[in-house]
Amino acid sequence: MINNIVLIGFMGCGKTAIGKNISSELKYEHIDTDDYIEKKAGMKIAEIFDKFGEDYFRKLENEAAKQISEYEGYVISTGGGIIKNEENIFLLKKNGIVVYLKSSPNKIFKNTKNNMSRPLLNTDDRLKRIEQLLQEREPLYLKYADLVVDTTNESVQTAAKAVCELLKQKIL
Ligand code: S3P
Repeated sequence: MINNIVLIGFMGCGKTAIGKNISSELKYEHIDTDDYIEKKAGMKIAEIFDKFGEDYFRKLENEAAKQISEYEGYVISTGGGIIKNEENIFLLKKNGIVVYLKSSPNKIFKNTKNNMSRPLLNTDDRLKRIEQLLQEREPLYLKYADLVVDTTNESVQTAAKAVCELLKQKIL
């Protein structure tokens, strides 16, 4: 049995909701790196960015990766920028399989358009921002992924099912 299932992907692709679904399906625990950071810091992500800036947030994210990579039997939903620091992925891969939840810019836009809690998306032209950031990051998501699941046209339930099926075929 593999120890952890690590979900990576862009903001708004459904990592948290799909992760919770997978964890109950496969009887794993679930943890979300952003929740972990917020609990430790006693602040919301947006507040951390606002008060201390993105670099400080990335340090907290790296600390979270160090701690959480020691866990066993978890589905780990990560923040979309976890791949910005190669060490995070190196740590999480030691004890887990990395699944990239791929989604289109339009779907991501649709999923995030009414939510202001993501500082990196709070710009005048959100769709353009998503397209730019995704273009930058997509090569990294693909490079680090052991498995890729396209969730663009899937509901949370069907996406989770697709991930579980793939994991069962390939690994479990
Ligand atoms: C970020 C993604 C967010 C959160 C922070 C930065 C990113 O997590 O960690 O706002 O750089 O992509 P979600 O992917 O869960 O939205």
